Amino acid sequence: MSGDNTFVVVANRLPVDISVAADGTRTFSPSPGGLVTALSPVLERQQGCWVGWPGTVEEVPEPFYTDGGVLLHPVALNAHDFEAFYEGFSNATLWPLYHDLIVPPIYDREWWVSYREVNLKFAHEVAEVAAEGAIVWVQDYQLQLVPGILRQIRPDLTIGFFLHIPFPSPDLFRQLPWREEIVRGLLGADLLGFHLVSSATNFLDLTREVAGGIGSHTGQPDELEVSGQASVREVTAHITTNDNREVGVASFPISIDVDEVLGLLPTPEKVAEVRHDLGDPQTLILGVDRLDYTKGILQRLLAFEELLEAEALDASNTVLVQVATPSRERIDHYKRTRSQVEEAVGRINGRFGSLGKPVVHYHHQSLSKKALLELYSAADIMLVTPFKDGMNLVAKEYVACHGDGSGALVLSEFAGAAHELSEAFLCNPFDMESIKRQLSNAATMLQADPETAARRMNALHEQVIEHDVNLWASSFLGCLHDIHAETKH
Ligand code: ADP
Ligand code: G6P
Repeated sequence: MSGDNTFVVVANRLPVDISVAADGTRTFSPSPGGLVTALSPVLERQQGCWVGWPGTVEEVPEPFYTDGGVLLHPVALNAHDFEAFYEGFSNATLWPLYHDLIVPPIYDREWWVSYREVNLKFAHEVAEVAAEGAIVWVQDYQLQLVPGILRQIRPDLTIGFFLHIPFPSPDLFRQLPWREEIVRGLLGADLLGFHLVSSATNFLDLTREVAGGIGSHTGQPDELEVSGQASVREVTAHITTNDNREVGVASFPISIDVDEVLGLLPTPEKVAEVRHDLGDPQTLILGVDRLDYTKGILQRLLAFEELLEAEALDASNTVLVQVATPSRERIDHYKRTRSQVEEAVGRINGRFGSLGKPVVHYHHQSLSKKALLELYSAADIMLVTPFKDGMNLVAKEYVACHGDGSGALVLSEFAGAAHELSEAFLCNPFDMESIKRQLSNAATMLQADPETAARRMNALHEQVIEHDVNLWASSFLGCLHDIHAETKH
């Protein structure tokens, strides 16, 4: 069982969602989330094969090439897979567990069975398309058993795994009834990548604890040195598994395609037009997120409301735009978050808006990249307030749009991006006063001390420009290629 692709990426999502109309016509739209944003340019550069689910439970098309030359290999999920594997185990068990129990995870044995079956299905699809000795890069929490299964059925492959969300502390992870299977699944990889050193350390600590130790490990996961476009680096932490294989563990902070963003930046006239359409406010505040309870959208609205109430922000001169991409809409906590957010938007506009002049513009929809970049460029203050986030690419996209030093970023300490973006106005989203204070500080500094505000934004901009997604991919793949060269020749 093998194909002819020497580089295969497998993720639960394909970069496009396919929907089928009643007459059978298919339409394609970009699929949501940071994983797709980051991987799409990487795959285009490498001309690889992308195995994934096209977001429908209808029949899926045969493999096809995108305009950018990427071979998409759709994996079919049926309605039961969708409920038990995707909505259930992936997004109502693992997602809340890995985001530090913002809501309680549900542990359901049937969902676990489905998670195993679907991981098996993905692994077999990869095994069919991957050439002898290929490099396979497995993505994210939905597919943590895939490395272990591939190791069994295709020992010739070199396998990398990257987790796009945080890896929790061993104390939390130990709740999971199937913790040992998950760890063993991950250890099928040759290289395990996390955004942050803290997640890599959590994983290493866990391997000591689960089932009395699954392997032994040496070294500590340093933040791998990422400067210039050099990709030859050393992985400093390794786990030796009980079957005597070495698994590298390291942190690789993900980023954005800076060239794409810079290439699509709007003109100053367009930016002025966007602000004009919003009533030419003195202060334009922006939030852009998937509508997810981890993102702290309600909390930032409440902070905004309290600042208007206290007249620390002027309702006649301030506008907040919140764009919220629909996400995982049938899951209870997502439904609840949406209704709380929409209720808050209605109340704030009722209290502080006037006829034809809302203070909050709320869009529950996906926007084009171009439209998003116009909003980022126009916004004076970007509010990114997740309770927990692996990285948060929205924060980096905003910063990339402000090479002229304009604007200010209010960023949660609990977003992975806070480790790199230390010149942002950092806040604790669990503390309403902290969000209010930093939002207010940002607004005041933009007016009263624009030089300092510009110095901070320039520092953020430089950090993002120098650490783009190509560096992330070349760092990870460079390490994986080194392992490939050492073990296969
Ligand atoms: P997550 O992966 O949890 O959704 P990130 O901030 O890392 O969070 O990535 C979100 C990605 O989705 C970003 O690239 C952002 O531009 C994109 N995005 C977010 N909201 C929208 C939207 N309403 N329309 C289009 N793209 C969006
Ligand atoms: C996050 C996850 C991705 C996921 C994305 C969108 O970025 O890390 O794996 O694809 O959210 O979520 P969805 O459930 O729509 O795929």
